[in-house]
Amino acid sequence: MSTWENFETNAIRTQTERSGQREHSVPIYATSSFVFNDAEQARALFANEEEGNIYSRFSNPNNDEFIEKLCLLEGVEDGMAMASGMAAMFVSMAAFLNQGDHLLICRSVFGSTHQITTQLLPRWGITHTYVDIHKPEDWEKGIGKNTKMIFLETPSNPGLDIIDLEFVGKLAKRHNLLLNVDNCFATPYLQNPAKYGADIVTHSATKFIDGQGRVIGGAVLGSKECIEKVRFFSRHTGPAMSPFNGWILSKSLETLAVRMEKHCENALHLARHLENHNEVLSVRYPFLPSHPNYKIAKKQMRLGGGMVSFELQGGIERGRKFLNSMKMISFSANLGDTRSIATHPASTTHSKLSVEERASVGITDGLIRISVGLENIQDIIDDIEQAIESSR
Ligand SMILES: Cc1ncc(COP(=O)(O)O)c(C=O)c1O
Repeated sequence: MSTWENFETNAIRTQTERSGQREHSVPIYATSSFVFNDAEQARALFANEEEGNIYSRFSNPNNDEFIEKLCLLEGVEDGMAMASGMAAMFVSMAAFLNQGDHLLICRSVFGSTHQITTQLLPRWGITHTYVDIHKPEDWEKGIGKNTKMIFLETPSNPGLDIIDLEFVGKLAKRHNLLLNVDNCFATPYLQNPAKYGADIVTHSATKFIDGQGRVIGGAVLGSKECIEKVRFFSRHTGPAMSPFNGWILSKSLETLAVRMEKHCENALHLARHLENHNEVLSVRYPFLPSHPNYKIAKKQMRLGGGMVSFELQGGIERGRKFLNSMKMISFSANLGDTRSIATHPASTTHSKLSVEERASVGITDGLIRISVGLENIQDIIDDIEQAIESSR
């Protein structure tokens, strides 16, 4: 396949080879298996002497196209599509960590990543240490003899904390550790962790990559050497993406750049508006100068992202009333959609964490997270304003 200089062109023009039907848009390869021309080809494919499809649990043209694009956009060599973001997170750890290994991980990770770390990995003898992202010196202190991997998420969900990728990338290299970055909130349009030394880049493609709230998907990306391990693990454990989802997500990447520009423009506008609101206690947005990691965000992100979180005066009760008063903005557990979505992390995605655990990652009872959609910004602001008014 050819490659181009620019993000948008790679996202649009990277396509599976045209079939004999001369289609312009790539069809869905809804097939569980592929036929062998003869016994010799079957043998060579299974022996990895010939490249090609065998069975859709291993590979499929739609998923391969999606991954080929993502690799170009992230600047990495290889990858594998996964059935969900969480399949990607789990595989990206399980393919590398062995009994007795230690994982160094930022405290502000997505709720299910926290469950994998604290409930599942210990069952296989894999320990962890959480690092408070407000104490960067703790990264180095947390490294032990058996530390194998650093895992982090930036910007984090839902606190929108920013971790310095250059700093952690250098640290990982110095200590010969694998660096694994969940790049879900930024997408490859805003940030490329591999540029700072990440060995593995993971995605929930369900969010901004899909962009329209239609399918669940994920990806693990990295060097050929790393993805060999991921491929072995997933080929035999089966978290493969469906070809239909691969087809949808590859099409979605075609519009990622224009969508992210608009998500970020609307989000910055909303963040500035809320910052001046006398009933809003605080606002978090990576490209607001008031964000504690503003300088780092500016260094490593092209734009500030599509997520804004804020704390309304009045705590949990006010937060509840606010969510019940919204007329247009959806109250849903997803993000990264064309439609703006509000969530209340304390009672939903992060409800499994204790109050203390939530507090340590900046999730207060009244915190509201907005995934800023692509509606007209005035309609988004009007709905938030009327919900603030009605929730008094
Ligand atoms: C940062 C982050 N990582 C991973 C996931 C999990 O992705 P999925 O829901 O596609 O399994 C999410 C879901 O919200 C997320 O926000």
